[in-house]
Amino acid sequence: MSFVTFGTKTQYYPLGQGTWCIGNDPSVFAHEVQILQEGVRHNLAVIDTAAMYAEGGAERVVARAIQPYRRDVFVVTKVWPTNASKAGVISSLKNSLRRLETSHVDLFLLHWPSAHYPLRETMGAMATVYEEGLTKAIGVSNFNVDLLKQAQKFLGPIPLVANQIEYSLMERAAEVSVIPYCQDHNITIMAYSPIKRLNSLSQDDPKRQVLRQLARQYATTEHVIALTWVIRQSNIIAIPKTSQYRHLSENILAFTLKLSSEDEERLDMAFPRPPHDLSVQWL
Ligand SMILES: NC(=O)c1ccc[n+]([C@@H]2O[C@H](COP(=O)([O-])OP(=O)(O)OC[C@H]3O[C@@H](n4cnc5c(N)ncnc54)[C@H](OP(=O)(O)O)[C@@H]3O)[C@@H](O)[C@H]2O)c1
Repeated sequence: MSFVTFGTKTQYYPLGQGTWCIGNDPSVFAHEVQILQEGVRHNLAVIDTAAMYAEGGAERVVARAIQPYRRDVFVVTKVWPTNASKAGVISSLKNSLRRLETSHVDLFLLHWPSAHYPLRETMGAMATVYEEGLTKAIGVSNFNVDLLKQAQKFLGPIPLVANQIEYSLMERAAEVSVIPYCQDHNITIMAYSPIKRLNSLSQDDPKRQVLRQLARQYATTEHVIALTWVIRQSNIIAIPKTSQYRHLSENILAFTLKLSSEDEERLDMAFPRPPHDLSVQWL
């Protein structure tokens, strides 16, 4: 495991907290706040949310969770691609800041490539909110190498510091070109859905059997093995979402677990890298 920096001097542990599916149900609001706070107390300081999650509901949960911890927490939010016009980006971020009850976020991302607005316009607006101090850094999500190059060109001197992409044992397409490019250009990879797809593997699937054997060998769980594998490389932070204390206390074990190179190879063979590159969707 190594720390991530998002292009600054501050180092963050390479596990953060996702918020997809939280903020929908007022009866569990307090519980969701407490789980995020417990995560922060265990060094899961990077909290990933988005204007789109629960139509702003996830940002409201994050607002309450970060109140006592704002200076220690790295808050990430996103603009949805149908709002990626110049005016849309600016108003989306201002609405997010109002819901998050903070003067700025630490990182602001374009959620997906936009089928509605030119990237030049979106990145121009991202530059504006950066210059106004509404965000400390700019990034993107679900971008391939070609789009990353364009985004950086349109941002000019402002560094593009993050690309949030799906990456897990079950989804390794980003290894073909996106991860190497990001590592070469100091762009932090935020690995989303780092464990979700494992939950759909049947118990007798050979992949699951390898995971189960390794979990037994390291006296841990399959999910911890999977998270440890994701954060084995530098410049990658995984952002699992959990609403359960039991899962949270499992997930943080990935900070201290070290897989042997033989066992990493076993995983490599059981969950082979696809030949195709990360596919791009415009939303
Ligand atoms: N940029 C994008 O386009 C994009 C897309 C998808 C997601 N994301 C972000 O990435 C975050 C993570 O991705 P995700 O939520 O899709 O998937 P994930 O974090 O890989 O998986 C979440 C699921 O795994 C369960 N889980 C968590 N820890 C577990 C453990 N130790 N053992 C067993 N199950 C466990 C959770 O259930 P419990 O709550 O019951 O623990 C939940 O059902 C999101 O929350 C969101 O912030 C971004």
